[in-house]
Amino acid sequence: MIISALKSNNSKDNRSPIHKETISTLINLGIEIWFEDNIGEGVNTSNEIFQELGLKKHSRNECLENSDLVITNQSLTKEEVELMKKNATILGMVNPFSNQELIETCYKSNINLVSMEFIPRITRAQKMDVLSSQANLAGYVAVIEAAKHLSTALPMMMTAAGTLKPAKVFVIGVGVAGLQAIATAKRLGARVEAFDTRDVVEEQVNSLGAKFVKIDLGETGETDQGYAKELTEEQIKMQKELQSKVCEKSDIVITTAQLFGKPAPKLIDNKTIDKMIPGSVIFDMAVESGGNVEGSQVDEIIERNGVKIIGISNLASRVSSHASLALSNNYNNWIIDFFDKDSLSINFDFEDEIIQSSVLVYGGKIMNERFK
Ligand code: NAI
Repeated sequence: MIISALKSNNSKDNRSPIHKETISTLINLGIEIWFEDNIGEGVNTSNEIFQELGLKKHSRNECLENSDLVITNQSLTKEEVELMKKNATILGMVNPFSNQELIETCYKSNINLVSMEFIPRITRAQKMDVLSSQANLAGYVAVIEAAKHLSTALPMMMTAAGTLKPAKVFVIGVGVAGLQAIATAKRLGARVEAFDTRDVVEEQVNSLGAKFVKIDLGETGETDQGYAKELTEEQIKMQKELQSKVCEKSDIVITTAQLFGKPAPKLIDNKTIDKMIPGSVIFDMAVESGGNVEGSQVDEIIERNGVKIIGISNLASRVSSHASLALSNNYNNWIIDFFDKDSLSINFDFEDEIIQSSVLVYGGKIMNERFK
């Protein structure tokens, strides 16, 4: 069996699907591991380091043409999939919701497709959960980046030159990214408040030393996978009005609200932005899935009424080494759990909940109900 790791094909993404500190897990399975030339460029790891560890360097096309399994942080093009051997497998973050062509090409070319975004949210699969491992780092990066744009410091400082008040940070959406944003802002000494439509998170917010903002929106709730349910138009309107009061007195507002497989809800409009303190910062972490903030733009910082609205994408890539270490562990854990040592191949056991959920295409068939 040959496993190949592909280099990022997105210039804004420095992450690698393999990492020098985690690769021994795959090496110990006794399989041949190839990597695309310069795969470690964004994580300060040369080709030579991977070669010394026993991996083989090849061109992208050689990797695609000869591998039984390809690991990638991005989707592949139709032409790339068509280069692959029949019955080979693509495993990675393939962004299936906006990539119907990939699913169709895999199905027509008899290539198996494993979407790591579809790892089920069960305890056994936490070690494979790429969305969580990357969202956690993104939450950290959002606070660091937002702090850079503030003209004040985050912690309170009592100095001979006067008392400097702590910054007020408001986090909207307390999933994995939101919790890390709260923890990071707290560590930096800010006063933190947070809100989520899933009231189960109140306890988690309090345990981090932040204050949960109570906004009664009637029935909200979560899906069996732990994702938020979509609010009605009336509920969104009510939320915007009530949270606007917290935004008005905040120095940093970080929005992370997402709905799995759907556009992000619009939660902050210009009416609210116009009431905020000039010099304050809004960081829209949902910008890539449509944005929580009116006017936010992918990879741009715009200003309205003296308020900066930041929409940086690929946040985890800003801490590319840690992001790659976590991602490579996620991929390795999937491979190990389904690797059959006798046949030296992946055991696609469709009785297994993780296989059922993460394998979108197998044996020339679309397996996932959502994509059928
Ligand atoms: P996400 O990225 O889909 O959404 C981020 C947050 O936005 C969520 O907390 C969601 O409730 C919130 N949100 C949605 N609409 C909102 C609105 N209108 N106003 C305010 N907030 C809104 O969620 P994420 O971070 O992927 O995870 C959500 C939850 O899933 C976690 O808190 C956790 O409980 C659970 N989870 C379970 C795992 C497991 O058991 N393996 C792994 C990871 C997460």
